[in-house]
Amino acid sequence: MKITLKNQKLENISCDVLILNLFEVETRRSTSLWGGTGAVDFALNGLIKKIIKEENFKGKAGTTLVIRTNGLIPAKKVIVIGLGEKEKFDLNSIRKISASAIRCAKKEKAKTVCTILHGAGAGKIDIKNAAQAITEVSQLALYEFDRLKSKDKKEPKMEIKTLIIAETDKSKLKDIESGIKRGNIVARAQALARDMVAESAITMTPTKIANIARKVAKENKLKIKVLDSAACKKLGMGAFLAVAQGSDEPPKFIEIKYTPKRKPKKHVVIVGKGITFDSGGLSLKPANSMETMKDDMSGSAATISTMSAMKELQPDVAITMIVAAAENMPSGKAYRPGDVIRAMNGKTIEVLNTDAEGRVTLADAVSYAAKQKPDEIIDLATLTGACVVALGDTANGVMTNNQKLADKIIKAGNEAGERMWQLPLYDEDREKIKSDIADMINTGSKGKSGAQNGAVFIEKFVSDIPWVHIDIAGPSWIDKENEYGPKGPTGVGVRTLINYLTNYASTQNHHA
Ligand code: BES
Ligand code: ZN
Ligand code: ZN
Repeated sequence: MKITLKNQKLENISCDVLILNLFEVETRRSTSLWGGTGAVDFALNGLIKKIIKEENFKGKAGTTLVIRTNGLIPAKKVIVIGLGEKEKFDLNSIRKISASAIRCAKKEKAKTVCTILHGAGAGKIDIKNAAQAITEVSQLALYEFDRLKSKDKKEPKMEIKTLIIAETDKSKLKDIESGIKRGNIVARAQALARDMVAESAITMTPTKIANIARKVAKENKLKIKVLDSAACKKLGMGAFLAVAQGSDEPPKFIEIKYTPKRKPKKHVVIVGKGITFDSGGLSLKPANSMETMKDDMSGSAATISTMSAMKELQPDVAITMIVAAAENMPSGKAYRPGDVIRAMNGKTIEVLNTDAEGRVTLADAVSYAAKQKPDEIIDLATLTGACVVALGDTANGVMTNNQKLADKIIKAGNEAGERMWQLPLYDEDREKIKSDIADMINTGSKGKSGAQNGAVFIEKFVSDIPWVHIDIAGPSWIDKENEYGPKGPTGVGVRTLINYLTNYASTQNHHA
């Protein structure tokens, strides 16, 4: 969908659907409606106000009212969307409302849609951020993955071709334009992440992930290195290779580097868990828990997709992206519960459960990262079922060894509409991964603080570098469609990473 900006009055724009808005309070007052909605209502001889009353429309957040204009203005229909309570209105309300509105316009079979710039009149919301948010969610709300359906099974495409954002105030146009531009870049990256996760594990193998990474690197003029298992062996990656050895699919260790044109303010490493399918290995998962385990590479999808936006966004920090991609399968060659393996940094791991494979692959990915002595390491991983139990698909779990860094990432995430909630790491939790025969076990105390057990394990490999672990196991996949897209992969993490890398990363972290 193309998103364009028009410096024209709403009531003069021709389109199939015109999206207007109003706050709850406006429906309670007898005075005229505010802003653009008021102007259009005037052009419609008070039709909107009349119908609001007749339909008892309260303006609750996300509720919609469809009105035919009967030729009184060029727009064929008007969708009025409720903004909810004025006091609670923020950037996330704009996201929810824009996504609901565009989905409603799609149901109305619109091809050309024009929208009011939600938030423009509210004062406290930055206009550029509002335009970016509207662009991002409008693109993503219409996202579909139908590549795998046969032609005759595909729904006839009723696509919205154009979304016009209308603004009469000339002084705002430049900011809106740059918000739209950025929003399109972010949405494209997030859609790539969704595409990667939606693909079946039979296709989205470690080799395929490496090929996508190569393509992204090429298109963005980034340096890329892909190590095969022999090269990983030479580097001593006994942990990553142990996980990979049960599968017939060869593992791939992927590294992409972005260097800014000017001297980098910092070096940030982002690491994504890249298990293309998690069967649990010999500690086999029950069948129903396996159904969505193609999503166990969501971390890698998010980091690779983030890199796909670097050419256009040009952040001022150096970025290294690392993905250790493998498939976790049971077989005669698989690693076993009880095996003790050695990671690249020399530490030994007693494998008690082969289903806790993510942290084992991350052990080598993070050791490799730490060797470069970056300023910070951020890992994204669908790491634990425990984090899903704790936070559902609503929030990501954040764990850290450096509060300052975590604060920035939590802020960047929440601002970008990806909820981040911190879980504590205590020394008592660190004790729980002690092994009798090796340096650590890959599990922890059964049924207790599962998300933190994973984090304190990864922490053993960061060698005191400021580090944040984001457990995305919940939000990476939704079981039911929502405003922002269909059920299945969400592409979570992309918006947080992009916001962090471009707006927050260059400031210094203080030591914890
Ligand atoms: N990939 C899973 C975690 C997961 C669960 C992601 C549900 C998304 C939805 C991970 O590798 C795993 O199996 N973790 C185990 C660890 C346990 C064996 C210590 C878990 O959480 O049960
Ligand atoms: Zn697992
Ligand atoms: Zn896993």
